[in-house]
Amino acid sequence: MNDTQPRHFLSLLDLSSQELTDLIDRAIELKRMTHASEIHAPLKQKNLGMVFEKSSTRTRISFEVGMTQLGGHALFLSPRDTQLGRGEPIEDSARVMSRMVDIIMIRTFEQEKLERFAEYSQVPVINALTDLYHPCQLLADMQTYVEHRGSIQGKTVAWIGDGNNMCHSYINAARQFDFQLSIACPEGYDPDNQILTAAGDRCRVTRDPMAAAKAADLVVTDVWASMGQEEEQQQREKAFSDFKVDEAMMAIANPDALFMHCLPAHRGEEVSAAVIDAPDSVVWDEAENRLHSQKALLEFLLLSKQK
Ligand code: CP
Ligand code: NVA
Repeated sequence: MNDTQPRHFLSLLDLSSQELTDLIDRAIELKRMTHASEIHAPLKQKNLGMVFEKSSTRTRISFEVGMTQLGGHALFLSPRDTQLGRGEPIEDSARVMSRMVDIIMIRTFEQEKLERFAEYSQVPVINALTDLYHPCQLLADMQTYVEHRGSIQGKTVAWIGDGNNMCHSYINAARQFDFQLSIACPEGYDPDNQILTAAGDRCRVTRDPMAAAKAADLVVTDVWASMGQEEEQQQREKAFSDFKVDEAMMAIANPDALFMHCLPAHRGEEVSAAVIDAPDSVVWDEAENRLHSQKALLEFLLLSKQK
């Protein structure tokens, strides 16, 4: 292994609050440049390896297009077609891949697997979603909030639904971006207790979704059954039936509250069509910002001097 450990992005806690705030500012600038058709290609000759063990639309497109726009290249690596899927040890795969590409993103199941890969990688590794976290989505969400409403510091965010990977990343975001998070989830679907406890009094859990949404500046939800939980769909539909974001819930939030969802969404389940298609729903900007915020992340991990 290399003596110099590369900088990874396995969770939001891998960057300091200041680095994250700077990254969001940079994402906004990169977006402006892209919309103005300014060519900015500092990653010439750089290659991103993209390992996907789960499906993806946004993450794959945003990383691939982002690398191309920055002057580099991205390789889509599916376990179906690589030796990873045939049982080549994760440590060996990490050592081999990281001798040929400059940066790697992984979407997989266990966070532990991602961490093991990163431990043996000579190059930065990005968490592109695990069962535990989805930090790249939070970069886009924070950028979107800042663009629409300014700083999120001191604001109140309501998380409605499952205590899942997105919820865990929102808990970490509450620590890093300094906002209050009210989490409403049914019994048995709480977020991980260690992650929650580490956030101290910035986060609270309630069984009452209307109480969580009351006076919130941002209301966020996600699917009831995440990737890998397809067999629990019916049981989860029952458990989560009172946890739908609808117009009544948005009406109890602050008058200028925004609605976000990482997508893909199920209209009529976790969110009503009226809410997701309303003007205060910013889900399309949120999806687009995956591109800009990840470009800022790629620049940070590949070009930043502060290691
Ligand atoms: N939000 C998100 O990560 O979408 P994909 O699963 O389509 O990448
Ligand atoms: N919680 C969802 C997020 C999808 C982007 C999942 O893990 O499937």
